[in-house]
Amino acid sequence: MWISFAGIITNYKDVKQFLVQKGHKFRSDTDTEIIAKLIKHIHGLHPNYSFRELVEQVIQQLEGAFALCFKSMHFPGEVVATRRGSPLLVGIKTKTKLATDHIPILYSKEHSKLKDTQSDHRPHGHEIPAHGLARSQSTSEFLPQGDNKEVEYFFASDASAIIEHTDRVIYLLDDDVASVEKEGVLKIHRLKRTLEDTHAREITTLKMEIQQIMKGNFSSFMQKEIFEQPESVVTTMRGRINFDSETVVLGGIKDYIGEIRRCRRLLLIACGTSYNSAIATRQLLEELTELPVMVDLASDFLDRNTPIFRDDVCFFISQSGETADTLMALRYCKQRGALIVGITNTVGSSICRESHCGVHINAGPEIGVASTKAYTSQIISLVMFALMVSEDRISAQPRRSEIIQGLRNLPDQIKEVLELDSKIQEISKKVFEKKSLLVLGRGYNYATCLEGALKIKEITYMHSEGILAGELKHGPLALVDKGMPIIMICTRDNVFVKCMNALQQVTAREGRPILICHKNDQEPQKYGSSVLEVPKTVDCLQGILTVIPLQLVSYHVAVLKGCNVDCPRNLAKSVTVE
Ligand code: G6P
Repeated sequence: MWISFAGIITNYKDVKQFLVQKGHKFRSDTDTEIIAKLIKHIHGLHPNYSFRELVEQVIQQLEGAFALCFKSMHFPGEVVATRRGSPLLVGIKTKTKLATDHIPILYSKEHSKLKDTQSDHRPHGHEIPAHGLARSQSTSEFLPQGDNKEVEYFFASDASAIIEHTDRVIYLLDDDVASVEKEGVLKIHRLKRTLEDTHAREITTLKMEIQQIMKGNFSSFMQKEIFEQPESVVTTMRGRINFDSETVVLGGIKDYIGEIRRCRRLLLIACGTSYNSAIATRQLLEELTELPVMVDLASDFLDRNTPIFRDDVCFFISQSGETADTLMALRYCKQRGALIVGITNTVGSSICRESHCGVHINAGPEIGVASTKAYTSQIISLVMFALMVSEDRISAQPRRSEIIQGLRNLPDQIKEVLELDSKIQEISKKVFEKKSLLVLGRGYNYATCLEGALKIKEITYMHSEGILAGELKHGPLALVDKGMPIIMICTRDNVFVKCMNALQQVTAREGRPILICHKNDQEPQKYGSSVLEVPKTVDCLQGILTVIPLQLVSYHVAVLKGCNVDCPRNLAKSVTVE
């Protein structure tokens, strides 16, 4: 049995206990193995079931969120795939046109109940039909026209994984069971007919450009995405900022701006990198909107049963738009009457669909698990939001103008930062064998510390911590000695003097930090073991230029350590389970 599995089975312990009682032996402690053993068990009881019927029995026993694809030596040439709560699509590639642009759903005519004593294979006491399910017949031939009937199917969670093969896809819905049988015909089955069912699944043609999702000359998607940032920030701003008239229009929220200006507070809720983008922009949002701004990790927000009011405006930031915790928090706030604003990179995602209004960050598909270009585009989207809300505040005009011009220069400045790549590679050689790496900074650069440390953890498996320099003497200083690798960010902003102070505290304990500071700024440079000079921009945009060297450090360290840059162990691009 070959199973490709994404998601989580929440009742796997119960199922495993049941299977152990039935004499099955397990080699691992994973939820994937219980699926394989369960299908084997049911196959033993019902050798006449088709492959698809076996899968249907299996998924009735499973709880959780999953996308599954099965192949078996008992059913050569067949594939069965299904989903519940996790995305799954089928790509179709043919030489000639298809006879139809949709595929009808086949329903079970009846649910025959267990009449015999075979019910002992029910881990939960659910009913499993003892006989093969009777089905209505397909009404349309899902085969290519003409003589060449050759057809290939691709099963994937995301369209970007298959676009190099085909642009025609079917998005499966929860509990659809798609099967490709020996003759190469794709069928989609459902056990029950519900009122909302559309009775067919459309074949969609993807608009995605192949080059957008190919690696090109880069060794990994993450590296490509880091180097794409001079362009991705432009696409985020395109059609939204007029640099000459210094106006900003975000079409997705313009009708709600009045309501937003009158609100009680702004809440920014997200996970991982998206949360860091909220930290990066909180200060500017407070400054330009003059509203209280709360920033929360979605999981913690839910754990606390946070009070939410009708006049709250809640932002849900998510690259994928599918992160389960963020989506749950969105639903929680929506139920309580708050205005829901989605900030996502994925058009048509759940967060997009369930928001009242929002901003697509338009960073283009991001394939590497570690988020890079989405982070910088999320920051820009939130900065644009702050600029738009403050448009009518006369006193804010000089500040707005400074930021808009800063945004205009950003793409060229990002290119300049990317030129540090070979220097960063050399620096990475000095730290890649160390156990730990601290990243220190404060003010607008604090988010860079968190995000830099997250990148390092995610793809190099090295311990890394983003530390607010103001907290240094409340604990982290105890870690500092001449052997502890430290990266410190020290740019000329309103906390520069305080940063210099922290830098001296570090060097007084024989720490020799790698410094990220402004070009030609001699003062901090004399304290650094190495220096990465970045161009100066407006304080609230500086984090975009200081995070890129850290994205590159994590990338080079991961390569030096032989880690899989795009698919780090134990992590997923889109975490669709709570
Ligand atoms: C996962 C990814 C992270 C990402 C986080 C939030 O943990 O591995 O890279 O930052 O989810 O994802 P989202 O799609 O909501 O931004």
